[in-house]
Amino acid sequence: MSQFPLTLLICFRPGDILSIDAEDARVTVSYSLTTSDPFATTFPAEATSRRAGLSRQLVGGTPVLRIEEPFAEHGHGFWAKLEGFNPGGMKDRPALHMVERARARGELAPGAQIIESTSGTLGLGLALAGIVFGHPVTLVTDPGLEPILRQMLAAYGARVDVVSEPHPVGGWQQARRDRVRALLALDEAAWCPDQYSNPDNVTGYSSLGVELIAQLRHIDVLVCSVGTGGHSAGVAHTLRQFNPELEVVGVDTIGSTIFGQPAQSRIMRGLGSSIYPRNVAYDQFSEVHWVAPAEAVWACRTLAATQYATGGWSVGAVALVSGWLARTRSADTRIAAVFPDGPARYYGTIYNDEYCQAHDLMDAPAPTAPHTINDPLTQVASSWTRCPTIIDPTHMPHTEPTS
Ligand SMILES: Cc1ncc(COP(=O)(O)O)c(C=O)c1O
Repeated sequence: MSQFPLTLLICFRPGDILSIDAEDARVTVSYSLTTSDPFATTFPAEATSRRAGLSRQLVGGTPVLRIEEPFAEHGHGFWAKLEGFNPGGMKDRPALHMVERARARGELAPGAQIIESTSGTLGLGLALAGIVFGHPVTLVTDPGLEPILRQMLAAYGARVDVVSEPHPVGGWQQARRDRVRALLALDEAAWCPDQYSNPDNVTGYSSLGVELIAQLRHIDVLVCSVGTGGHSAGVAHTLRQFNPELEVVGVDTIGSTIFGQPAQSRIMRGLGSSIYPRNVAYDQFSEVHWVAPAEAVWACRTLAATQYATGGWSVGAVALVSGWLARTRSADTRIAAVFPDGPARYYGTIYNDEYCQAHDLMDAPAPTAPHTINDPLTQVASSWTRCPTIIDPTHMPHTEPTS
């Protein structure tokens, strides 16, 4: 424990100053934003403060939960950042940030349409950003979108456009992106955030990293699921300013192409991809784990039964990997794991016995340790597997980078 007060100053953008004062166990965070209020530029004053208040009061400030048994023995454990406490989940943060920055740069005109491809979580964030900043929102998704989410997105005022066929090579994700392009061609004022390659999807997570530092102070290992690569890159960037030795462990689903595996059909949504998102910061990761659906279901249900805190596919996969890290590292290793959302979307899948039985997802507890492979290009993971070799497939001669 520190014997003297500690003050840290970090600049995120020119003019934005964040100070963290830490004295022994007490940590306080104060934001001092000296830029002009981004909400003030186009809305009348009354609407501005009401809408700005909406996002500031609802998003961020999520709790962390210490998780030990049964994921690790007493004294060992990890800290879970419960992003499901945001109204739409983790992606409320980058959605608000991407829209705010696009408006500030003049790329998104007041009242213009926002069109984006999403498996759900960013859609909720964009629906919120549409309300906050006054934009119509069209979300392109696929038939796997959970009915509850589709209904809620409509209730939040978004238009939901569902593609009917996967792309023969790039799967559902590519089919959604092609549809976004077609819709953008019909409306020249429309703007697409493009979460896969927009750097604001990365910097939108600065607040998450800062909150983790304020809550945990020192972090040795960060565990993040990877879909667009946005939150792993953004949180790692912030945490590294406090600990340059930070280890980052990526969590993907089997059948995902991100870390060099061949594309296969996937039932886990949120994490994973059938394309190569440019926001993935390959150089940040020290290892990657691929997790299978039954293993994530076991972890989600075990979290529910023992912690009263749970979530979706990425939460289960991250908890499984974090528990193993906690068991295999010394007790004083501080592990932070990002839990991107809560359980509400998954009542018809992860928490539905009929669904799980029909998909053989409830037969056995998850293994206690992963297999290890060293070459993700020649060895294919079909169950929980770790690989300490990180390969950027976009730099391989035989793969076509997909933007
Ligand atoms: C529920 C959930 N978990 C994890 C992820 C992966 O996060 P990222 O896109 O920041 O890599 C996503 C992305 O859509 C998601 O929706």
